[in-house]
Order: sequence, then C-alpha cells, then structure tokens
Amino acid sequence: MQEPLNVGLLGGGTVGNGVAKILLEHPERMILRAGRPIVLQKVVVRDPSKPRSHIPASLIETNPYRVIEDPNIPVIVELVGGTTDAKNYVLAALAAGKHVVTANKALLAEHGVEIFEAARKANRAIGFEASVCGGIPIINLLSQCLSANQITAIQGILNGTCNFILTTMSEEGRPYAEMLARAQELGYAEANPTLDVDGSDAAHKLAVLAQIAFGVSVPFHEIERVGIDTLHPMDLRFAYELGYTIKLLAEGWLDGNEVALHVAPVLLRKTDMLAQVRGVYNAIQVIGDAVGEMMFQGAGAGALPTASAVISDIVDLAVGRAQKTFAVNKFWSATPKKYQLRPSNKVRSRFYLRVLVRDEPGMLADVARTLANDRISIASIIQHEALEEHQGQVVPLVIMTHYAETGQFRHALSKINELPGVVPPGVSYSVDD
Ligand code: NAP
Ligand code: HSE
Repeated sequence: MQEPLNVGLLGGGTVGNGVAKILLEHPERMILRAGRPIVLQKVVVRDPSKPRSHIPASLIETNPYRVIEDPNIPVIVELVGGTTDAKNYVLAALAAGKHVVTANKALLAEHGVEIFEAARKANRAIGFEASVCGGIPIINLLSQCLSANQITAIQGILNGTCNFILTTMSEEGRPYAEMLARAQELGYAEANPTLDVDGSDAAHKLAVLAQIAFGVSVPFHEIERVGIDTLHPMDLRFAYELGYTIKLLAEGWLDGNEVALHVAPVLLRKTDMLAQVRGVYNAIQVIGDAVGEMMFQGAGAGALPTASAVISDIVDLAVGRAQKTFAVNKFWSATPKKYQLRPSNKVRSRFYLRVLVRDEPGMLADVARTLANDRISIASIIQHEALEEHQGQVVPLVIMTHYAETGQFRHALSKINELPGVVPPGVSYSVDD
C-alpha cells in the first residue's frame, strides 16, 4: 500500500464536521477508494472551546499557518468561507506547495483567475467539487463525464436554503423569517445568510458553472441577480392559482457570440421537473450538443452531502487523478474573451405582473393600455376582491403576458408604477413555460 495522505482542514464548522466524520468513521472506505489511507491531521477553528460533534479535541488548532506550513501535510482543505482570510490561506497553501480543496464558490467566482494562476505557477491542483450543488458531482460531470459535448445551456436550483424556504412557504404557509432561521439551524445557510436569500450564492455558483460549461470568466458583479428576500407570499399564492410554482433559478446559455447569465425567482409550471424539486434539494438541467438534455438532482447543502463532494476531491488527489485533469483543464485562465455577456434587457420571456391598484373604475384599462403602448400582449388576468390590509381600497391585479423583451417589459412597468391609482412598485417575475 502507498503511504498515507495527510490532510489539514481549515474550518471545523458545518462542512468541516461532516468531512471529519466521514474520514474518521470510515478509514477502510478511503483505503478502498484511494488505494492508501487518508489521515486527518489537524482542523483549524477560531474558537477552540466550541463543542464539535465529530472533531476530537486533539486535532483542533487555531493557527492556520501552522497547518498550511506543516511539511507533513500536502493537502489543505479550505472550509472557512468568505473571500478575505480564505483567499490568503489558499494563496499561502499554494505558495507552500500544497494542493487545495475548497467548497468556497464566492472565492472562486470573485478571485478564480488569481487563485488558479497561482496554482498553475506552483504546479499544484485545486479541487472544488463541493462549491456547486452540494452533493451533486456537477463539476466532475461537466468537466469530465460530458467532455464530448459543448454545453449550450444550464438551468438550475442552486441554492438549498432558498429552495427550502420557498417549499415550506408555499406548501405549508410557513413564514419566511422562521424558515430562514430553520435553514440556518440545519447548517444550510451561509455564515452571512443574506448571500443566500439575495441570490448572490446562486450567482457565485452560476459563475463557477459558466467557467466549466462555457469557458467564460464573467466579472461576478455583472451577473444580474434577484433573490427571494423581496418575494411576497401573495405572489406564491397567485402563481399557484395560475398553475405555477416559484423557484429561484440560475440560468445560463450560449447564443451566437453571447452568453446569458442571471439568477431570479421564476414561475415554473407545477408539472415541470424543476418545479417538483423540494426542500434543500438542488437540481440542474444541462443541454450538451451530443448528449442532449439531462437533469441531475441531490441534496444541495448540509454537512454530509457537502462532505461527500469534498472527500471525492481528496480521493482524486490521493489517487493522482486531480493533478492530471487540473493541468489539462485550463479553468480561469486569462484566455481572450469568446463570448459577450448578453444584456438582460435583450432576453425574451413571458412575465407575471402583480400590481396593487385603487379599487376604482378604469384602473385595469389604464394598466392594460400602458402594456399595449410597449406592444406587450396580455395572456390572462386575475383580479380578486380588495385586500383587508389596505382597508378594502386596494386590489391586486395579476397579469400574465405573452412573450416580450425584458427591456420592453421593464419600460412598461416603470410607466405602470407612475400611473395615478397604482401603489408602486409593481412586482414582476419571468415565466418559464
Ligand atoms: P461554518 O459552519 O461557518 O464554518 C466555518 C469554520 O471556519 C468554523 O469552524 C470557523 O471557526 C472557521 N473559521 C471561520 N473564519 C475563520 C478564520 N478567519 N480563520 C480560521 N478559521 C475560521 O461554514 P460552513 O457552512 O461549514 O461552510 C464552509 C464553506 O463551505 C463555505 O465556503 C461555504 O460557502 C461552503 N459550503 C457550505 C455548504 C453548507 O451546506 N454549509 C455547502 C456547500 C459549500 P469556529 O467554528 O471557531 O467559528
Ligand atoms: N448556503 C448554500 C445553500 C450552501 O443553501 O445552497 C450550499 O452551497
């Protein structure tokens, strides 16, 4: 048997605990899969007094550089999160000649070029399977198993926290704040959960996928994103009444020399496969020019599903596979731009519009005329009785449109918001039929 592979973890929180549990409870599994033992040497944390379910006190360390610079530890696993200390640790590990495994999509989306350049310079590999879709091995699938294909489109539920919140809000009528707190307790949410609910985490993951699937490095701030933090339960109910479910979707596709990338809540028909993905599950639909359409589904967050992905990277390093594939796949290399980012205003879609209007004659006609002025055609309308919370004076008007350009629709919406009798802002989401 080959000599053991020693590993140091930076971070012993949700994911670090999961990795420690599997490595410590199943050493024989590691030998079977990697051909050699994988030995957890140290786990770096900030607060050594915190109880940790699967990390023995003897492994706890508080100085990251003592682990990074330990000559007996050739693999550093970054599970700290964030983009400041994590970046410094990863660059220091590469400079010290260590291979790196990370679950940190924010770090890759925002500093991928610098970090991958440093890895290539140091002739070391970076594994990042856990950075997207938790337990679904989507990085491996796209970069290796589907290597015969040009991927032309991806569409997915990439944030487990948001899917958990949306599922419990729409199916059980649970309040948003309570469900976000529950997602935090369950270890699904980021240390800063705003990143989950404002769409940034899904956009970080989309940026990583765009690199692997399309070969594009898009500056992260250019990816348009809308989260679920502004979603009103009323819109979940109206969508349901119309035969739809609202999901936070990350979408990317190639069209000519343009790539479209965005994250937003979208109305999906209840029968759509993605609409049926519930709870913390993630799912991703991929179109490859040889394989056609495929869909992958699995737990998108949580200690053990994420640890499953982290350990697959460690095993790949132990076997020596990762070093070879890393050298061939030139991810985040400074190659010339092949694709331009498509301005979101040019994307065509159907739209759901909900606007609160005073319960007076002519309001529906005014809204309809404003849409018509921008050549937007109405497919259906719902208007219910006046809302109690507005003392019976305001009614929600819900309109489904036919296809229109986003720019056209946004222009019409800005005019609707200015109409006398409208309580702005009107709320709108794309509809995916
Ligand atoms: P977490 O529970 O907050 O754990 C972070 C760990 O890092 C803690 O042990 C913390 O120490 C330690 N730490 C934080 N800042 C540090 C610093 N500056 N120096 C040294 N140690 C530091 O986070 P997590 O949920 O495990 O997530 C870790 C990474 O995995 C993140 O990049 C996240 O995006 C990614 N990820 C998470 C999930 C998930 O389901 N949670 C899924 C996929 C990817 P203390 O324990 O002492 O505070
Ligand atoms: N906070 C992330 C989520 C963790 O909820 O999907 C997995 O990346």
